[in-house]
Amino acid sequence: MTKITKNKLAQLTAVMSDGEFHDGTALGQQLNITRSAVWKMIKKLERYDIEITSVKGRGYALCEPLILLEESQIQKQMGKQRYHLALFESVESTNDYLKSLRKPNGVWFCLAEQQTEGRGRLSRGWHSPFGKNIYLSCLYLFHKDISELAGLSLVVSLAVVNTLKQFGIEKELHVKWPNDVVCDYRKISGTLIEVQAESHGACHAIIGVGLNVNMLIDERRKISQSWTSMRRATGKYLDRNLVSAELMKNLLKYLKRFNDESFAAFTDEWMASEMMSGKIISVKTVNETVTGVVKGINAQGHLELKLADGKVRVFSSGDTSIIKK
Ligand code: BTN
Repeated sequence: MTKITKNKLAQLTAVMSDGEFHDGTALGQQLNITRSAVWKMIKKLERYDIEITSVKGRGYALCEPLILLEESQIQKQMGKQRYHLALFESVESTNDYLKSLRKPNGVWFCLAEQQTEGRGRLSRGWHSPFGKNIYLSCLYLFHKDISELAGLSLVVSLAVVNTLKQFGIEKELHVKWPNDVVCDYRKISGTLIEVQAESHGACHAIIGVGLNVNMLIDERRKISQSWTSMRRATGKYLDRNLVSAELMKNLLKYLKRFNDESFAAFTDEWMASEMMSGKIISVKTVNETVTGVVKGINAQGHLELKLADGKVRVFSSGDTSIIKK
């Protein structure tokens, strides 16, 4: 686990993001560090799988732009919002870090450049390469019973959709029950929620969001589902400091409303961006796979499926795939 303190690495990559060659001594002078400290940081970036060309007499050049996360940049965008932020260069899982906090007060966010044990739903992993995407978790106290949190992952997907729209991604952008956001039928974001019940009908939820931002290829062939990223959708490299801050602001806004009201307040927004109504889909649960036509969702955010015999079944969790569009 490596926490980010004085972010010299971000300063180094900011200077090098022009893609030009930079001499080690000049870089050292710009950053007020020694040439050997620069060399150590270059080696560290290479260990994180960042491609760097190094040519004797010319120095080092990044093969791809790389803007790293910086607390000060995020704070600047967040304005007067109240929250705690833990920012890591590398962590096992941002969800697990928040889970390890003892008696946390207020809202906590955890962001990381890389997760070594990133987790997805249904015991899957979440590919979390260094410096490419957003791996964000939020710890939030709900004044609700655990049974009232069924719609939470849907609300989080809506906050992600809103964020993506702010960055110009709107075409073929949909929420997919229960926790995915897809762009052009490819997954761009997923949510993993873990809930801990507290006394007096309250509960803490750890909401983990993985959002593909600048990932263009899956070098290690780690992703089994069809996926896309914001960069693929827009053709532009994005500063994740800006995207993270917008996502955090949207989460604060959507989570507060969900806490004060209920999922019913979001049904219209969900219906405007969902992609499965009227389609034949399969829902895979721990015990079975059921096929039917999607009727919609109910006021709790559960999925309603019309089966071949005309009966309607309601699902509170599961994995969905469209069989016929
Ligand atoms: C899924 O679609 O299966 C959910 C993916 C959730 C991934 C995020 S990344 C930040 C947080 N930390 C984790 O280990 N997982 C979630």
